Amino acid sequence: MRTVEWDNGGVKMIDQRSLPWTLEFARLETAEAVAESIQNMTVRGAPAIGAAAAFGMALAARNSPADSIEQLIRDLRLSAETLKAARPTAVNLAWAVDKLLAIATSGEFKRVDDLRDVLLTAAQQIADEDVAINSRMGRHGARLIDEGATILHHCNTGSLATVDYGTALGVVRAAFEQGKGIHVLLDETRPRLQGSRLSAWELDQQGISYDIIPDTAAGYYMSKGEIDIVLVGADRVAANGDFANKIGTYQLAIMAAAHAIPFYTVAPTSTIDLSLCSGAEIPIEERAPDEVTTPYGNPIVPPHFKARNPAFDITPHRYLSGIVTENGIARPPFDTNLRRAVAGDQL
Ligand code: MRU
Repeated sequence: MRTVEWDNGGVKMIDQRSLPWTLEFARLETAEAVAESIQNMTVRGAPAIGAAAAFGMALAARNSPADSIEQLIRDLRLSAETLKAARPTAVNLAWAVDKLLAIATSGEFKRVDDLRDVLLTAAQQIADEDVAINSRMGRHGARLIDEGATILHHCNTGSLATVDYGTALGVVRAAFEQGKGIHVLLDETRPRLQGSRLSAWELDQQGISYDIIPDTAAGYYMSKGEIDIVLVGADRVAANGDFANKIGTYQLAIMAAAHAIPFYTVAPTSTIDLSLCSGAEIPIEERAPDEVTTPYGNPIVPPHFKARNPAFDITPHRYLSGIVTENGIARPPFDTNLRRAVAGDQL
């Protein structure tokens, strides 16, 4: 089962808002509807929203009434802006949209229907490659996991955050599939609870041993020596290795460093943004305060109480032991080794 896929003229995706209670699917037929599904987190996770946006571009091409390539490109540019604005931090979204725009503007296609077909094929390729890349990252990353290890994980980076298999949880899955006896502590990940709702749902189904912990318990378990390694995902990695990930990642990195616990992010090269020198340049999405005060429609404080809700934070590269990519594990110095990984060198 894929998190996002093309389905007979539309995009079918797991509606992640209803998990873990019910497995529901959404089917979208316009680029605008796909943008809304990304904004309201029907689909979420950097690689999954990249694939969804690619299918959104394919839908924009199908739905455009254009009868010239120039008009089709104008329509595609409008949809590209709408899709990219849906969530600004995860670079996979812009990466996928720009990839399809580059095909459209390459000058190679003279007939609008040919371009429509090629864009759909390209979107399908992005989705297929995501699965293959995740399984490669899983194999590289599993080398970091010792028999009997307890892994701390933040947010959701599994099948649901990707087209299938996952990034950091893909490493966990690969280690489990190799027969290693492992245990995972899952940060619940407030305010949207991707850890307790989504990661626990996935590990439960896969039969991987886990406990959900309050986000605030991570330091306690580190101090007791119960955590061997921290694995997280990334929404955007800058050229120097600083990276944006779900809010709370930064404090985990500092605590891991204080306890000399290895700390890795697992991210495909499509998440690496070499155009940014450091994490200070990564835009951070600030979401609506009611996600904090009224999670999933359940008020926990009176409606006039104030809240702030940054969705991501930046972890400086000095706290990172390494970055697991599909081309191997990048270690310091990140500025040279990330460039090599993006160029396709095997690290
Ligand atoms: O806000 P979300 O749920 O989309 O945030 C997801 C994360 O922060 C993940 O760690 C990241 O996208 C990498 S997942 C493969």
